[in-house]
Amino acid sequence: MIEALIFKRVRAVDPHLALDATVDVVVERGRITRIGKNAAQNLPPSDRVRVIVGDGKWLLPGFIDLHAHVREPGYESKEDVASALRAAAAGGFVDICAMPNTRPVNDNKTITEFLMTKARTLNSTRLHPIGAITVGQQGERLTEMADLRDAGAVGLSDDGRCVTSSTVMRHALEYASMFDLPVIQHAEDHALTDGAQMHEGVVSTKLGLKGWPRVAEDIIVARDLLLVEYVGAKYHLAHASTEGSVKLLREAKARGLRVSAEVTPHHLLLTHEAVLGYNTACKVNPPLREERDVRALQQALADGTIDCIATDHAPHGALDKDCEFDRAAPGMIGLELCVPLLLDLVRTDVLSFGRFIEALTRAPAKVVNLPPPELRDGAEANFVLLDPQARWSIDPTRLWSKSSNTPFLGRTVQGRIDATVVGGRVVFESEGIDGDRASGTR
Ligand code: DOR
Repeated sequence: MIEALIFKRVRAVDPHLALDATVDVVVERGRITRIGKNAAQNLPPSDRVRVIVGDGKWLLPGFIDLHAHVREPGYESKEDVASALRAAAAGGFVDICAMPNTRPVNDNKTITEFLMTKARTLNSTRLHPIGAITVGQQGERLTEMADLRDAGAVGLSDDGRCVTSSTVMRHALEYASMFDLPVIQHAEDHALTDGAQMHEGVVSTKLGLKGWPRVAEDIIVARDLLLVEYVGAKYHLAHASTEGSVKLLREAKARGLRVSAEVTPHHLLLTHEAVLGYNTACKVNPPLREERDVRALQQALADGTIDCIATDHAPHGALDKDCEFDRAAPGMIGLELCVPLLLDLVRTDVLSFGRFIEALTRAPAKVVNLPPPELRDGAEANFVLLDPQARWSIDPTRLWSKSSNTPFLGRTVQGRIDATVVGGRVVFESEGIDGDRASGTR
């Protein structure tokens, strides 16, 4: 049995602790017991100690994803708890939040408990269910929020659908605040997006596809922020996609409202031009927008107006995507690609390294009240070893998710997750990181 895990000569970076140094990190009994220069020097060699040499690699606090579609129960051919957690671990995530748009919808404690129990038995990345705001995500009757919270739900959302009724939203905010659960809104005025296939603009006109105007998001965000101000609740905006949302969030934060927001890798990297050629891999909800939205989102993430990066990991099978554009399901996978893709924004100085790490760790932890992973003596060992130099090509055979619906297939990225440690256990490792142990098999 391995009693100690040692990461030697890693560049440990934890912006919250103002840590950026080449150190050794020793893990025993699930915790970081020593961190510092030569911290591992006097440990006797033993077959109960596993040493991973990190020369040149980064050791970062483990990532937290607020927004993953795990698809179980009901759509296990696209993904299930086990495959989602494998993909999450391979992407460097130590905690993920599971959206409730399953079949049946996770609107009750039985499903929440089922997900928690199943995830626990897998000893991998931890799963935190998000319960529905309304029964069946129908937008009408509120769920039993206290039950959901007691069973382990960390937030509430009807994601995939918007809570359009102002009365229902008002009551959701009032009740959720009694349990300190964030209300996570999918902001879409469905009356304005009926039949819409992509962002409304010059590309939708060219392709003859019905458009999803920005204002359909902005209207809901503006209304919700007024309700938040009136009720005084904790509100989180899922997958912000417009320049207008950014402006509204900035104003709301300046007024001191308890609001937060997330942005996805695809909304930070792609525009509606990617849909040209009717590329169903780029069909997503909310849709890919325009250059000026992308710039506004990047800027907002950089300055903290948008708090978090979230994947909106939305696996779909080939049959859901290899079809006419208007019949294709919206969404793309993200857990394994999020960090390697977004490191480009750090390398090009769009985002500071510190903000990048915060947006994937401390900021999402705060939204759902999870303890933030930290690189310090005594902290639970939840971290990631990342090789910033390794280049690899995104190819379905390398992915752990059951689905491979992403427009980034074929792209070469720089930056590879080499190991993910949750509660002191290595839950993912890339091949040969210590040269003497094989990695798991697909
Ligand atoms: O593109 C999306 N896919 N957006 C959502 O809000 C839901 C998700 C899904 O469940 O496939």
